[in-house]
Amino acid sequence: MEVIIRPDAETATALAARLIAERVRAKPYTVLGLATGRTMERVYDHLVALHRETALSFRNCGSFNLDEYIGLAAEDPQSYRHYMREKLFSRVDIDPARTHVPDGMATDLSAEALRYEALIREAGGIDLQLLGIGESGHIGFNEPLSALMSRTRDKALTLTTRQQNAAMFGGDVDAVPTRALTMGVGTILDAREVILVATGAAKAAILARAVEGPVTAMISASALQLHPRCKVIVDEAAAAALT
Ligand code: F6R
Repeated sequence: MEVIIRPDAETATALAARLIAERVRAKPYTVLGLATGRTMERVYDHLVALHRETALSFRNCGSFNLDEYIGLAAEDPQSYRHYMREKLFSRVDIDPARTHVPDGMATDLSAEALRYEALIREAGGIDLQLLGIGESGHIGFNEPLSALMSRTRDKALTLTTRQQNAAMFGGDVDAVPTRALTMGVGTILDAREVILVATGAAKAAILARAVEGPVTAMISASALQLHPRCKVIVDEAAAAALT
């Protein structure tokens, strides 16, 4: 695990975007694992700028998002499919047919989880997985007690996570879905390379536990200590509790 500290959120997210761009330029058929959330908004803004200003092309890339809320349709403004369309897909030249987000409306969630895993395998696996970290220590929606070898499945969201995400639901925690379909920790660890981005003081305590504490199913992000090619890019505020 390599921890890279940048002065602020702007420079941290710009670095993450630059590293992604380097990989995509080196291998146009890159399969990207993508995340949502507030941290990623700036990463995607930087990628869009690189696309517009430096002709970075996603034409041949594939993508798999980490997760989707159960019960939200793709057209729902709060769905992660909608988020991805707004923040990235409609602003770059990626082929929409090669973008994948779990189907939170699937009637058979276990079958949808198996289908998603099979699609990732058929695409040749994920080359570069982008991650944020939740205040519960989750990556994707792998809440505490997610098995380190878990695969895509449905998972109950903790109150901490629902409170963290309530702002996207008009501040109403009761409006935040209670379950999500998420890649497992094992699915994430299978990616050839991982970049986790964390910014802001609210992430400092959990980031220090994930990076410097023991590997534990109570903090899914700690499993990244086992990954041979994982970069953790943080701003100074998120790095504040590192020793
Ligand atoms: C969402 C996801 C989550 C977020 C995490 C951080 O697809 O994978 O793990 O990355 O909750 O979210 P923000 O950036 O909003 O603090």
